Amino acid sequence: MKKESFVLRGGIAFSESQNSIITYYRGYLVCVDGICKGAFTELPEEYKGLPLYDYGERLIIPGMTDLHVHAPQYSFRGIGMDAELLEWLSTYTFPEEAKYSNMDYARHAYAFFTADLRRCFTTRAVVFGTLHNEATIELMNQLEETGLITYVGKVNMDRNGGAGLEEESAETSLEHTRKWLEAIEDKYVNTKPILTPRFIPSCSDELMKGLGKLSAEKDLRIQSHLSENHSEIAWVKELVPESTCYANAYEMFDTMGTPERPTIMAHCVHSDEREMEILKKHGAYIAHCADSNMNLTSGIAPIRKFLDYGINIGLATDVAAGSSMNMVKTMLITLQASKMYYRLVDQNVKPLTFEEVFYLATAGGGSYFGKVGTFKPGYDFDALVIDDSKMFSMRDMSIRERIERMCYNDADAFIKDKFVKGKKVFTAID
Ligand code: GUN
Ligand code: FE
Repeated sequence: MKKESFVLRGGIAFSESQNSIITYYRGYLVCVDGICKGAFTELPEEYKGLPLYDYGERLIIPGMTDLHVHAPQYSFRGIGMDAELLEWLSTYTFPEEAKYSNMDYARHAYAFFTADLRRCFTTRAVVFGTLHNEATIELMNQLEETGLITYVGKVNMDRNGGAGLEEESAETSLEHTRKWLEAIEDKYVNTKPILTPRFIPSCSDELMKGLGKLSAEKDLRIQSHLSENHSEIAWVKELVPESTCYANAYEMFDTMGTPERPTIMAHCVHSDEREMEILKKHGAYIAHCADSNMNLTSGIAPIRKFLDYGINIGLATDVAAGSSMNMVKTMLITLQASKMYYRLVDQNVKPLTFEEVFYLATAGGGSYFGKVGTFKPGYDFDALVIDDSKMFSMRDMSIRERIERMCYNDADAFIKDKFVKGKKVFTAID
């Protein structure tokens, strides 16, 4: 029997659907060869021979997916937050990313990023690197070591990057991308490449078209940014005047993907019905980045509308526009943002519930990786064991109440153990 077969016992919670969380007090959670066999009140006879790890009163929840995070921005998170998007990019972000041409810098900075990612609530992530091949490969090497499962993109940008952060031409950018893909072919088990045109203002029409073709040719997924900020949207209209909207510009270049090869679009703060239709038609995922959207004064994405319309959605930190990689904090800001959208913007758009936000952080984003993000039979066994014993209470609380408190009081909930596909990838030192 493999090491990835065992039973965990504890306070289990996971999404049964978008609107319901199922819980088990002192329940059993079975993992066989890295796959979840389900949660049980009584341990079925057939699993009684497996090693059992009893976590007592600890909580056991599915791992979380961070659907959009910029690894090279980790080192300046929390700085420059009075700027809006375009000023923030040119003043802080692009000069910082330019430093990743220096491999000593990249190695050192990425070690801090990967160490934090290993420790936090995230078990899967979709990550931006920089435009530099060597530094992006270093990032992928380090991520592979963590045991987390990730997509990582070498960024494409052949215009408007300023000094030191621009590829010479579309041709050069495409050639670098092919070389990067060749260099990492068959190199990793858990780390996959994803094509990463930064956003339309960074990529010429020719580059976008080339990436659209490459995506189809090599069956590679794409990630980018969409409709984050009003000035950005107006700029895209100037750059691609024949497009009917920002999402249509991506569509024109065949970079919106297909349901089998879904594109991730970060933000969609200002996406209207036209963009919703395009996103849905292509089976795209929206990476909702509430913390980032607050920090850069971008706005609040109407996630309730997107959910009701049937668009795929996951949550994301968007470090460094989002200031931390803590997905539980991201859940909280998502809830608070949706409440303010309802109160201040449109009272026809009801706030997201805790059930929905828990679902988005686990199963919603997880579905981008396949059967991931819940403890139903057949799902990959990605799990977090949480110690909330420091969260003082005078009364007994249900598991459901405890995970809601974990979200609203994240500083008092600690990760004890973290599993990805049944492998323990992190354990806290008691
Ligand atoms: N749009 C283009 N690049 C970026 C980035 O690095 N962060 C955010 N938040 N938006 C972007
Ligand atoms: Fe981003």
